Amino acid sequence: ASFSILDASNNGNGPRFSQENPIKRSDFPPGFLFGAATAAYQVEGAYLEDGKSISNWDEFCHSKGCGENGENGDIADNHYHLYMKDIEMMHSLGLKAYRFSISWSRILPRGRFGEVNPLGIMFYNKIIDNLILKGIEPFVTIHHEDFPQELEDRYGSWLDPQMQDDFVHFAETCFKSFGDRVKYWVTINEPNLVTEMGYEKGTYPPNHCSQPFGNCLSGNSDIEPLLVMHNMLLAHGKAAKIYHEQFQLKQGGLTGLVAHCFMYEPFTNTELDREAAKRALIFNIGWSFDPPIFGDYPQEMHEYHGNGLPKFSPEEKEFMKNSIDFIGINHYSAIYAKDCTNSTCLESSNRVIKGFLEITAERDGVLIGDPTSMPRFFVVPRGMKEIVDYVKNRYNNTPMFITENGYSSPNVENVSVEEILNDYKRIEFHQAYLASLAESIRNGADVRGYFLWSLMDNYEWTYGYNVRFGLHYVDRKTFDRIPKLSAKWYQNFLKNNTFID
Ligand code: NOJ
Repeated sequence: ASFSILDASNNGNGPRFSQENPIKRSDFPPGFLFGAATAAYQVEGAYLEDGKSISNWDEFCHSKGCGENGENGDIADNHYHLYMKDIEMMHSLGLKAYRFSISWSRILPRGRFGEVNPLGIMFYNKIIDNLILKGIEPFVTIHHEDFPQELEDRYGSWLDPQMQDDFVHFAETCFKSFGDRVKYWVTINEPNLVTEMGYEKGTYPPNHCSQPFGNCLSGNSDIEPLLVMHNMLLAHGKAAKIYHEQFQLKQGGLTGLVAHCFMYEPFTNTELDREAAKRALIFNIGWSFDPPIFGDYPQEMHEYHGNGLPKFSPEEKEFMKNSIDFIGINHYSAIYAKDCTNSTCLESSNRVIKGFLEITAERDGVLIGDPTSMPRFFVVPRGMKEIVDYVKNRYNNTPMFITENGYSSPNVENVSVEEILNDYKRIEFHQAYLASLAESIRNGADVRGYFLWSLMDNYEWTYGYNVRFGLHYVDRKTFDRIPKLSAKWYQNFLKNNTFID
């Protein structure tokens, strides 16, 4: 890029990064893992190469057309072919860790109904080996959204307990193939969001939802989300049990689960809204992490759902308990929670999976934070320390990783590449969120790492390629990766320099 860093940071309006005490690498513990994250379907492409089968996302995007522009992940960032360049890019940024996911349909094209695909294993071996050669810790998500479509067609994927067996088989294959080198395993990414988008709102595969949401194929949003989450949690618990019993001693790694963690604040200072904000946290954070830590769903969820809430058997409670070594927090935004126990909730998801409340970002005409291109994501840096402190207190300071945190600039018509590259807002975002995180760590929160979402612009699910979270811009024709200003900032930050020195 042709601009100079100082010009760009000045941008005609005076220096933008001249806070008195900008956050520094040295504000975090020495061994803290700073990295960046991606996920297979969002970056790999090569959707039919080397024995990979069609995944639920391939099928969804091809048959129903996902996203406003009908874009899909067939080619994505072509990372499947450009991974060496990408690892080089990570190295030059100075990343200590890279979080990526494994495409289930590359490794096991037919799930447990077929063989392991050696070419799939080879691809991830090359990634892992080259990361290690560059001193970058592989931080692997086993399942991040995509799985072989055959599992949907045969038995309805996560609605059926058979999916637990398939997941365990997949996870075990990963532990066996890669566990000699991979020390950080996330079993499943954001089960709470998959549930909401796939089985409530119906915007993600398999498109299940109930009225009044559009674009529904079928579904029962009062039952399915709870069932899907239950199967995902049990799948996690069973895989973790196998890891802990058969692999951990020899391989010495850790397993965790990642949830989508909004911070919720009361809409008004009334008792009802304060209770609603508490419930929102319990119905999201507690729903995701109480079972793998305490062995059961939160009491409040039992009270609200009664028999509608699936049950863990005594034996399941036993293996679920303490089935995670670390908690993965994907945090982007805070939002207001507004009670609707005594009124009609507009969206059924707010009743069933959020805890009888509405969420809103606006109060008295003022937004909770600056908007981004994601409808529910606002820039609220205090949310980071609030959520970390909440998780710390609820789970007795179980080790945590910020497995994702990132900023997508609001979509502007005809935005130029130069403007995209001059992403000072992204730098401000990360500086502010990191400062908030550092405060929690100073107050004793056991946070061990931070993964910036994302290494490069990629396929943002149904929002397509125009929602950009990346440190690098990806030219959609040449697939060149061009560092944005934020990449230079992160590189400097990791060297313990402030941006402008
Ligand atoms: C969380 C998801 O894990 C990731 O796939 C997604 O791109 C980011 N959030 C941004 O929405």
